[in-house]
Amino acid sequence: MRKIKISNRLKNFPPYLFAEIDRKKFQLKEKGVKFVDLSIGDPDILAPQAVVDALYSSARIKANQKYALDQGSPSLRQSIKGWFAGRFGVCLDQNKEIVPLIGSKEGLVHLPLAFVNRGEYVICPSPGYPGYRSAARFVEAKIHELPLLEKNNFLPDLAKIPLTVRNKAKLIYVNYPNNPTSVLAPKAFLKTLVDFCSKYGIILAYDNAYSEMYFDSKPKSILEISAAKEIAVEFHSFSKTFCMTGFRIGWAAGNQDLLAGLLKVKTNIDSGIFTAIQDSAKIALDTQGKYADDLRKAFKERRDVFVKNLDKAGIKKYYAQATFYVWAKIPAGFESSLDYCDYLLTKKNIVATPGVGFGSFGRGFVRFALTVDKNILEKVRL
Ligand SMILES: Cc1ncc(COP(=O)(O)O)c(C=O)c1O
Repeated sequence: MRKIKISNRLKNFPPYLFAEIDRKKFQLKEKGVKFVDLSIGDPDILAPQAVVDALYSSARIKANQKYALDQGSPSLRQSIKGWFAGRFGVCLDQNKEIVPLIGSKEGLVHLPLAFVNRGEYVICPSPGYPGYRSAARFVEAKIHELPLLEKNNFLPDLAKIPLTVRNKAKLIYVNYPNNPTSVLAPKAFLKTLVDFCSKYGIILAYDNAYSEMYFDSKPKSILEISAAKEIAVEFHSFSKTFCMTGFRIGWAAGNQDLLAGLLKVKTNIDSGIFTAIQDSAKIALDTQGKYADDLRKAFKERRDVFVKNLDKAGIKKYYAQATFYVWAKIPAGFESSLDYCDYLLTKKNIVATPGVGFGSFGRGFVRFALTVDKNILEKVRL
């Protein structure tokens, strides 16, 4: 039989960063090695009990076991609208400006399929969430790496994007609070970003997955900037805000034509989100109480404990402003972030993510995800 070959498109994909890390973790487990996993942003804290109860009771209803509406349930969209207005003071039309997603990653990765042609540019932050680059590769776009440099507080310098790229760019991904660097974006930057995208007709995919994961000032929505609704779609996730990573649910909000394009892709690929999961997400928004406050408190305590370990290990330069990540410069004596992570894994039984995995401008950094208990973090020795 003729050998079946992988498509050229997929051949060009590097292995997905976290799938590789998972493989290493699996090997360690097989050998019986105990390790502290600070690699993936998957919170160890339970989702709210009311959410789990809602999932269970909704799943028992026969009608809910059928295909769900592609556009998401009207009552979930209504709750998203209410939550958004309360949190950001932005009014959304629940019929045209909100699309529930099977996790924000699903929407982030599908959006270019609706708008980007082969050979057009997609601008991806570096370091940045690896899903953006995958999305660009699926549509055979050219990737322009947008450096997030320490000297600029990890905000991109839009003025440095070459004219040829600006003119041929179709979409830009921007994410604050930022994974992996942990920093927030000031409102002035958001305004500059919207002006830039409007001027060059570039779709702004604003990833706000960590909007509720802050310690001091509250992150903004891009949709708070006037004119943003003309060019932007903002992505939100229940994964981080309500520790619902495995549920797979999020939403996109913003420009109605962009959302219509995304929905067209989705209707051709998935057949809606399981109604019971949508119902549980609605309960998360409607009954959130002080869940998010407690979560922030827990992560702040973890951060304060963990950075003491960095100090002890002689790591003086690190960032931990928001999100549950710490972005640290690798200590002297290590050639690369890969070397340092290898050392942590083999000598200290700690799994961390090498900065270079987030793009070439992540070189020399390491990301620690504080997704294990404070008592464990206290004992970690780097
Ligand atoms: C910046 C960022 N965006 C999006 C996602 C995807 O989240 P989900 O698909 O679980 O909503 C993640 C997950 O780690 C992330 O870090």
